[in-house]
Amino acid sequence: MNTSIFAHRGASHFAPENTMPAFELAINVGAEGIETDVQLTKDNIPVLIHDETLHRTTNGSGYVKDHTYNELKTLDAGSWFAPKYQGTSLVTLEEFLTWAQDQSIYINIELKNNIIDYSNIESIVYEYIKAFNLQSRVIISSFNPNSVKRFGKLTNEIETALLLSQRSRNALSYVKQVGASALHAKYSLLTKKLVEDCQDQDLSLRIYTVNRPSRIMRCYKLKCDGIFTDVPHSAIEYQELYRH
Ligand code: G3P
Ligand code: MG
Repeated sequence: MNTSIFAHRGASHFAPENTMPAFELAINVGAEGIETDVQLTKDNIPVLIHDETLHRTTNGSGYVKDHTYNELKTLDAGSWFAPKYQGTSLVTLEEFLTWAQDQSIYINIELKNNIIDYSNIESIVYEYIKAFNLQSRVIISSFNPNSVKRFGKLTNEIETALLLSQRSRNALSYVKQVGASALHAKYSLLTKKLVEDCQDQDLSLRIYTVNRPSRIMRCYKLKCDGIFTDVPHSAIEYQELYRH
């Protein structure tokens, strides 16, 4: 099996992360999947933004959770990246899924609830996935083990993954305990043993965030199930080279 290439926050090296230009670029270069981050507005609308706060990737300020969607929808989420993206809007989960349903891609929705444990984010996101009938193409992940567990209780139709950024001897038992079938691990945690242990326990292993060619190649060599990369086009190029 080839390592699947997920565009991390879209093709985020080339376009503002978690916006439509970054998602469209990911598709155009041939990524198999897109990873995106979800937070909730004050009126419980899921929006795609990595940080809990607005200032890094928009011209707004304060917390996402303290603004209604109406207040956020006029923000500029592109100028911070490059002037040509001025006027790019924040994307709601609904807008993203409306677009994604017509693309043949996998979708990794990361619930960003390790800092703010948004109430009911699991069921809110699940309702959208069901409404678009995208269960078979979505993977839900979170750094918050309780959230992964909660999502798994809603349905067994959707794959769940636990995100891990720190080394732990019990990593795989945590994954099992929360009922996930995949581990999404930081690159620094990648070892041959981790790959073998995941294989033995029938868990998928996907690695973030893999941008350097040497690291991309190592993931291919170790036969990781997936990588998250800001540069999907070069990951695809190296995959071609690796095959030959
Ligand atoms: O889902 C993989 C990766 O996105 C997790 O870290 O901080 O980039 O959302 P972060
Ligand atoms: Mg993420």
